[in-house]
Amino acid sequence: MTISLIWGIVVTVCCCLWFILGIRRRQTGEPPLENGLIPYLGCALQFGANPLEFLRANQRKHGHVFTCKLMGKYVHFITDPLSYHKVLCHGKYFDWKKFHYTTSAKAFGHRSIDPSDGHTTENINDTFTKTLQGDALSSLSKTMMENLQLIIRAPAPPPAKTTAWVTEGMYSFCYRVMFEAGYLTFFGRDLTRQDAQRAVILNSLDNFKQFDKVFPALVAGLPIHVFKTAHAAREKLADGLRHEKLRGRAHVSELISLRMFRNDTLSTFDDLEKAKTHLAILWASQANTIPATFWSLFQMIRSPEAMKAATEEVNKTLENTGQKVSFEGNPICLDQKQLNDLPVLDSIIKESLRLSSASLNIRTAKEDFSLHLEDSSYNIRKDDIIALYPQLMHLDPEIYPDPLTFKYDRYLDENRKTKTTFYSNGLKLKYYYMPFGSGATICPGRLFAVHEIKQFLFLMLSYFELELVESHVKCPPLDQSRAGLGILPPLNDIEFKYKFKHL
Ligand code: HEM
Repeated sequence: MTISLIWGIVVTVCCCLWFILGIRRRQTGEPPLENGLIPYLGCALQFGANPLEFLRANQRKHGHVFTCKLMGKYVHFITDPLSYHKVLCHGKYFDWKKFHYTTSAKAFGHRSIDPSDGHTTENINDTFTKTLQGDALSSLSKTMMENLQLIIRAPAPPPAKTTAWVTEGMYSFCYRVMFEAGYLTFFGRDLTRQDAQRAVILNSLDNFKQFDKVFPALVAGLPIHVFKTAHAAREKLADGLRHEKLRGRAHVSELISLRMFRNDTLSTFDDLEKAKTHLAILWASQANTIPATFWSLFQMIRSPEAMKAATEEVNKTLENTGQKVSFEGNPICLDQKQLNDLPVLDSIIKESLRLSSASLNIRTAKEDFSLHLEDSSYNIRKDDIIALYPQLMHLDPEIYPDPLTFKYDRYLDENRKTKTTFYSNGLKLKYYYMPFGSGATICPGRLFAVHEIKQFLFLMLSYFELELVESHVKCPPLDQSRAGLGILPPLNDIEFKYKFKHL
């Protein structure tokens, strides 16, 4: 009885102390504040359950700018897309590296890759720009096109087989083809043992799925040791990316070879730790691309107008470049200019990503400062987080009428060229499409990502006849458990049929 009473008093005193000292009070000039009811978590549970609805509700209650406590952090959400460019003008007050570097270290198991922590001298962002864009992009895209055809044409089918339909889950198909082609494109080919290599990559694919499944929990702060299978999968994946295993492979991408041999002579990372930073690149290059490829193929196949327009564009390009599709002959080849000049495929991909993307763009405040937006200013405290959630904009009916409907030509203008003018409140938007983030943290692989999805669609339309098993199948729901991380995968797979065309 006495012990219960003492415990009761202790708990009550703690609650009062938390209420008096632990709760942040809104100060003059700061955005409206939602502390939530649970200590430390704040509003994390409501946000995690449905970020879009949670943010819409707060927008209705507080207006376009408000602060929420999430996992002990104070996050200022800026929700008016007309203000996005103003937010990005405050770059000198933002530290965008801290969150990215800490998350990468936690999830992939390497030490900090921030040069100021002394383990590495590599400026990883320079490496990304140098090796994923400009001239490097041409060779990356060329290798990807070859690898995609190596996979989808192999083994070259005997004539009898060409007439048979193959039925498969579309998400599984996209996962298999894009993972294998992407893996070979970044980490090179073992020309001497092609069959063994295939088995190794398919095994890596299984490990990647196991690891990726727990990724949202790792980002939320849970240690990987809690997940035994995922932990083992991560270690096996990293082991496969050690330099001794990559040495001797042909066509290793510039991104990986530069990091293996030249960039970082002062690194204190051992072979396994470096392999873990390669794993971070493998994850970044696959985790969003795979669902994005699925949604692009799925939305295209289920819309007869999209299929017709895309097929016409592909056939016209093949004709203009003087290429004939055949199983035995040369693989199809498209240069940068030809890849960039596919506005219909471009629009299909953009529209598919608009509907499936749920990324959270965040920066940490380096110091107290005033955030000046279009019509008002807000005081922000050091270590607070500024967040943009572009899904609110992507599904805003004023910017995108009928926002939940897939319209393959939404990003085409009256001349069937890429459309770039979208409006909010009668004003032209600078930022209207942000699945790849924005400003200093924009995805460095975005140009390659669009190329590889375009190549995939181009090849599927060139080599195969495609059909959904159930022609009026319902669009699968998005897996909201990954909200904040990028492109959301479907909750269930969709069966489709493909067969080689009579070429
Ligand atoms: C459809 C496919 C893709 C989507 C939607 C996507 C989206 C994103 C997003 C939203 C970010 C974070 C931006 C931010 O924090 O504001 C990011 C970062 C990144 N992405 Fe992508 N990405 C895709 C494909 C790729 C590919 C193919 C690569 C190739 C390696 C890649 C490499 C990276 C890297 C290295 C980062 C981290 C950059 C940094 O922290 O400095 N991404 N991506």
